[in-house]
Amino acid sequence: MTANHFDFDKVYDRKNTNSLKWDFFKERKRSADELPLWVADMDFRSPDPIIAALKETADKGFFGYTVEKYEDKRIVSDYLKRRHGFGPDPDDIIFQPSVCFALTMAVVALAKEGEAVLINQPVYYPFANIVRDVNRKLVINPLARNADGKYVIDYDLLEKQIIEEKVKLYILCSPHNPVGRVWTKEELQKIGDICLSHGVTVLADEIHADFIYEDNVFTPFASISEEFEKNSVSFTSPSKTFNMAGLQIAEVLAHDEKKRKAIENTSNTYGYAEIPIMGLSAMKAAYTGCDEWVDALVDYIYGNITYMESFLKERLPMLKMVHPEGTYLPWVDFSGLSLSKGELEDLMRNKAKLWLDAGYIFGVGGDGFERYNVACPRETLKEALERTEKAVKGL
Ligand SMILES: Cc1ncc(COP(=O)(O)O)c(C=O)c1O
Repeated sequence: MTANHFDFDKVYDRKNTNSLKWDFFKERKRSADELPLWVADMDFRSPDPIIAALKETADKGFFGYTVEKYEDKRIVSDYLKRRHGFGPDPDDIIFQPSVCFALTMAVVALAKEGEAVLINQPVYYPFANIVRDVNRKLVINPLARNADGKYVIDYDLLEKQIIEEKVKLYILCSPHNPVGRVWTKEELQKIGDICLSHGVTVLADEIHADFIYEDNVFTPFASISEEFEKNSVSFTSPSKTFNMAGLQIAEVLAHDEKKRKAIENTSNTYGYAEIPIMGLSAMKAAYTGCDEWVDALVDYIYGNITYMESFLKERLPMLKMVHPEGTYLPWVDFSGLSLSKGELEDLMRNKAKLWLDAGYIFGVGGDGFERYNVACPRETLKEALERTEKAVKGL
């Protein structure tokens, strides 16, 4: 069965679907002729079993309160076990509306006001906002690059900051958005050992875990040891893999009862009680009937990554794409063009007519980069790259 069996090449018109990516140009002060490859939302339709499950629920016509059953948590655990070799105890799982909401609840529950929360940068920009918005102290650990240009953790600096800032929590992006690293078991072991020895709880955001390429292997943080399991909380969701962020369902895997109860109590205090009935239906269909679709999707996106890499190497060698080990969000270094922040923004928006996430919004180390979203039909990606080429060559 090839990727095309599911027709990922098909270009859909997503306008007038209430899509943040396609229907909010004016509100976001962008011009309507820009091609959007910014937010991590795919231009592929969700797989048929999800659409069928939603129709079945809709046809019943009742949308009252629902809550999850043990069986629903087992579905999550079975999926994680099948795909990543580690299925948490279903009782360790709690549902939340989104990973960002859940991270916020975890930060509030597990660190007091003023206490320090460490993140790497560049990183998915809401991490910094979450920490600041709830008045915890933000500690930034810049990612380092080794001799091959690969992004790595500076463990000495990490430990120094943890000690000096009395860090309580470390929000780890694994796999990493935007630098595309799939942290190896050895790397996670080192991070985890440092955190364990200084009483730092790891909040592992594993939302991109299904997008792994070549011989890279995703290691769930909690799978490494029982100690790590107890000293961490992991976050996942069907929203990225199945393109269903609008259905608002995510999972928290909290293996330590005290931490789990603290997160649950905090989220109850903030008024969150029941999961959405449509999200639950979709989640169950996603995690039980779509494995073949996920395999084909990941193959297709990997094809896009290699297409983009060859395109840039041949036609725009002055741009350096960081080879992604995972995620669908390639990180491209434009610093070879020696443009100021304003000039680069002008190039992408006004000349290339592309709506991307500019690197600087990801924090320290992001200047001069642009993040592309390649979870789109090849034709859309080709158009984006040709627009990039035209603009760069017109400089
Ligand atoms: C690392 C990471 N975490 C969380 C999210 C958002 O997840 P949610 O919509 O469930 O809050 C994203 C979306 O891009 C992401 O890249």
